[in-house]
Amino acid sequence: MDGKKYSVVIAGGGSTFTPGFVLDLIKSQDKFPMRQLKFYDNDAERQKKIGEAVKIIMKERAPQIKFSYTTDPKEAFTDVDFVMGSIRVGKYHMRSLDEKIPLKYGVNGQETTGPGGMAYGLRSIPAIIQIIDWMQEYSPNAWMINYSNTIAIVAEACRRLRPNAKIINICDMPIDDMDRMAAICGLDSWHDIDFNYYGLNHFGWWKEVRNKKTGEDLMPKLKEYVKDHGYWVGGDYDKDTEASWEATFKKVADDYKMDPETLPNNYMQYYYFPQYEVANADPKHTRTDEIREHRQKIVFGECERIVKAGTAKNNIWDISGLHSEYIVDIIHAIAYNTHEKFLANCENNGAISNMDPDSIVEVPALFGADGIQPMATGKAGRFQRGLMMEQQTCEKLVVDAYVEHSYQKMLQAFALNKTVPDASVAKKILDDMIPVNAPYWPELK
Ligand code: NAD
Ligand code: LMR
Repeated sequence: MDGKKYSVVIAGGGSTFTPGFVLDLIKSQDKFPMRQLKFYDNDAERQKKIGEAVKIIMKERAPQIKFSYTTDPKEAFTDVDFVMGSIRVGKYHMRSLDEKIPLKYGVNGQETTGPGGMAYGLRSIPAIIQIIDWMQEYSPNAWMINYSNTIAIVAEACRRLRPNAKIINICDMPIDDMDRMAAICGLDSWHDIDFNYYGLNHFGWWKEVRNKKTGEDLMPKLKEYVKDHGYWVGGDYDKDTEASWEATFKKVADDYKMDPETLPNNYMQYYYFPQYEVANADPKHTRTDEIREHRQKIVFGECERIVKAGTAKNNIWDISGLHSEYIVDIIHAIAYNTHEKFLANCENNGAISNMDPDSIVEVPALFGADGIQPMATGKAGRFQRGLMMEQQTCEKLVVDAYVEHSYQKMLQAFALNKTVPDASVAKKILDDMIPVNAPYWPELK
């Protein structure tokens, strides 16, 4: 280590994931020492609630790190080494509509898949491009680690509109799945797993899963378990898992049967079984409502408690979350040029040998000071390739719609998607989504 101390800004300071991430950053000071932490958000009130609690946390636990929060982009993006992208354009109000409008027409209503995911992606593009531009203007050497969804669409937009930007688009879902695999095999955590994985974001398959230390092939053991239980571990491991996630992880048992050679990302259920998803959904109470009743209540309630008590002792984030622990590992790999392997969403360029070079794919990559070096994963199976070609074309059409302000392209994206049964249904969903997305989408003509 060269003694350098880092400055980090979290864009989307008001995110429900922010306090957990801050606690993990504080815990990692021997690994990733910091001199400054800033929050940036365009909702001052929401950010303040998190910011005031974090002020107390920082004062008690890391007074050596300068902390501030702001809605001023110049202040936020000046003098930073890392920008963490954690924004949700339109917040939960728009997520709720992404979920509920498709369900009205008997189509899967989900945050990052189907029409809802495409609507969310189109909202995120201009906001992420704007953040990249601020970063390039005020801190040209900084790296942006983005996990704002819809990642596949954001990554495609970055590839086309800001091809030289220092941005890496990542996702924590495969980490969650791998942590479950580790638990199923009696290992401590995902850190103990080595893997080969390929696909798109929220749309992929493990080809290999091994014990990192011994090299043992864990696929046979995992397949035996997953065919009955999916990635559901149960017991202590799942004591805080919400009901909808329990259903999701159990459903992997059925996803797995679509290709017993590989192990699926748990999001495949939305593409394999859209009718099941719709039949089991309550259009009046979707995942957004569950988060409002659970995660948001807990996070904002805890922040309020900390501010009132004037201390962060015994807070709920002292047990670290997978999501933020993984992000700290990634920024550490870039800062210290470790070339550690993580999954990234990047231009294919041969990483999946039978996919187009300009596809955005999710593949293992080595992370270092020069960014990422994607690894060759081999050839996609015929089934997987067919699915990916369709899905990534939808993602490209959404970016076309953004660039060309094209109603036609957005309609094609919806109509092509595996979750949508028919072009007339696609049109109805799109026509309902346009007025509510007016503050965020380009005008589609
Ligand atoms: P949230 O709504 O709780 O927080 C998002 C924050 O972003 C809000 O405070 C909001 O005001 C702010 N925001 C919205 N538009 C903004 C803009 N243009 N500029 C600055 N700030 C803006 O959302 P959340 O549930 O905490 O999720 C945050 C993001 O992380 C989402 O994009 C979500 O999809 C994503 N996420 C990704 C992963 C992953 O691993 N890829 C995992 C979990 C969450
Ligand atoms: C969810 O919880 O449904 C999604 O928002 C994924 C996540 O953890 O943000």
